Amino acid sequence: MDTPENSTPCSYENFWQNEAEKLPWFKPWHTVLDWQPPHARWFVGGEINASYACLDIHIHGELKDKTALVWCDETGVERHLTYSDLYKLVNRIADALKQKGVKKGDVVAIFMPLIPEAVAAMLAVARLGAIHCVIFSGFGADALRDRIRDVKATLIITADAGRRRGKCIPLKETLDRALELDSMVKTVVVVKSTGYAVSMHEGRDIYFDDFLAQASSYCAPEAVESHHPLFILHTSGSTGAPKGVVHATGGYLTYVYSTLKEAFGITKDDVYWCTADIGWITGHSYLVYAPLMHGATVMLYEGSHDYPTDVAWWQIIERFKVTIFYTAPTALRLFMKQGVDDIARHNLSSLRVLGSVGEPLNPQVWEWYARVVGGGRDPLRCPIIDTWWQTETGGFMIAPKVLRDHDAVKPGSVMHPLSGIEADIVSSDGLPVEPGSKGFLVIKKPWPGMLVGIWGDNERYKRTYWSRFTGMFDTSDCAIKDRDGCFWILGRSDEVIKISAHRIGTAEIETAVLSQGAVAESAAIGVDDSLRGQTIVLFVVLRAGIAISDSLKKEIIERVHKSLGRFIVITDLFCVDRLPKTRSGKILRRVLRALVQREPLGDLTTLEDGAVIEDICAQYKQFEK
Ligand code: WTA
Repeated sequence: MDTPENSTPCSYENFWQNEAEKLPWFKPWHTVLDWQPPHARWFVGGEINASYACLDIHIHGELKDKTALVWCDETGVERHLTYSDLYKLVNRIADALKQKGVKKGDVVAIFMPLIPEAVAAMLAVARLGAIHCVIFSGFGADALRDRIRDVKATLIITADAGRRRGKCIPLKETLDRALELDSMVKTVVVVKSTGYAVSMHEGRDIYFDDFLAQASSYCAPEAVESHHPLFILHTSGSTGAPKGVVHATGGYLTYVYSTLKEAFGITKDDVYWCTADIGWITGHSYLVYAPLMHGATVMLYEGSHDYPTDVAWWQIIERFKVTIFYTAPTALRLFMKQGVDDIARHNLSSLRVLGSVGEPLNPQVWEWYARVVGGGRDPLRCPIIDTWWQTETGGFMIAPKVLRDHDAVKPGSVMHPLSGIEADIVSSDGLPVEPGSKGFLVIKKPWPGMLVGIWGDNERYKRTYWSRFTGMFDTSDCAIKDRDGCFWILGRSDEVIKISAHRIGTAEIETAVLSQGAVAESAAIGVDDSLRGQTIVLFVVLRAGIAISDSLKKEIIERVHKSLGRFIVITDLFCVDRLPKTRSGKILRRVLRALVQREPLGDLTTLEDGAVIEDICAQYKQFEK
């Protein structure tokens, strides 16, 4: 990566400096970028507050009474919060947190459904200069416990339950299970969202309304240094426990503000709907921080795309006149299966930008999205913006610049890196590959949205992102750059699995499988699925003397669901005598994946014992070629 040679900012730093100047800083920075590879500090010396940048800047002007959040549930009930309503709520939560002793640098965990209070809780934590750690509300008790412990949170904000497909998803109950053995958590704040009955632990749990009862309506925003952490969000890699990705305040805010403008051309007049949950990075960057900084109206829908009917989403677009719609290919594939008639009955003419994220948007789905949802309108009036990025990158990295440059999009390609971003495709030696050849996607210069570390593990940060290619950020994705410089994302080069665009690591699944005492060893494989992107196939080795049965299979799968959450879709479970391993004992998951997908097995020379494969094929005839 380039190192600035002198104190005069080079062009990409100039670009980011100009972007940062659009944000409300309390104190200007003295240095745009301090790059000590692999650590970057952006806007050094500058002071800012995320909640101030999202709310305070709007509430004295014309946006004061404009809807900031419009929430709707599956039964059609809606709530509107203006910028000034949201501001008041955030201030009260912040003050109540302060009264509980929360201060700058403390970590507050949030385990909440997609309700306005969840957004307000994030902003309230940020207002104090504390660090939020949102945990996806679909996670089970073990996944939740691991994440809470990793960040050593002592205060958690949750809700009685979430709503999905007409049912209550008991969040407080899951949290109680996660905290059974935990003594660090001192306070649990519970929003009564659905009325679902919960048990309250004396001295620890407090209802949200009581929590706010004594709170002041104003809590001064804490000016934090640009590099101060804004949040921790766990994500999965190839190995080990989930990583707590840390994003800092000034660079991150600048980045998400700038990229949402560049890619989607957002304005304060947009009704913007990002269908992601706040538990994932998309929900942080492009459901909360960026659209609120831009003063847009943000749509929150608590529910599923197909309940009470298959047209729930299209009804929302029509009813609330959504102008920007940002979703994942997995949802589009489900809708494609249903046909177009139901969709055509809805007036979707308010839409002006269609976004996509999370998985490759292949040309057929792209074409369907443009024709059926975009109404086949002028591609410059309702363009499809497929955004490639990651939890680690904080915001969009590669996406078409249709709105700015009238880029003619190639369906299936994410096109070119956004301004200020230098991406490339390299071989395993880190050398640029020929146009059209598959290689590893790397980023060659730091950018303001770049993660600043892994919570509590700097060595892992260096090892994970900076050890494979000298001086380049390793995205762990494979891609192709064609002769026109357009990027085509092929998928992960590691063992990360994407189910319905939710990112999950094999290690976490395997740990959950092993917690079923009958299992001695296991391997989780992500296999291609035409609707969900990927699903999971499990291989298990049972303890001596235990035989597999349908009920044991069910128990193992149930164990994973309870531990990690029901969004983990397991489509098959194979019981084998041994797993294929390298001589150093690493499970060769790629060989198992190739077996299941009936693909060539590739290089088997590293296998400790080649007979393993024959044994598995002999046991399961479907794997035989
Ligand atoms: C994949 C989600 C193809 C990719 C924002 C990446 C994509 C991983 C796209 C990050 C896209 C994301 N086309 N693949 N437009 N966007 N990915 O951290 O493999 O949940 O590495 O962040 O999703 O997933 P994460």
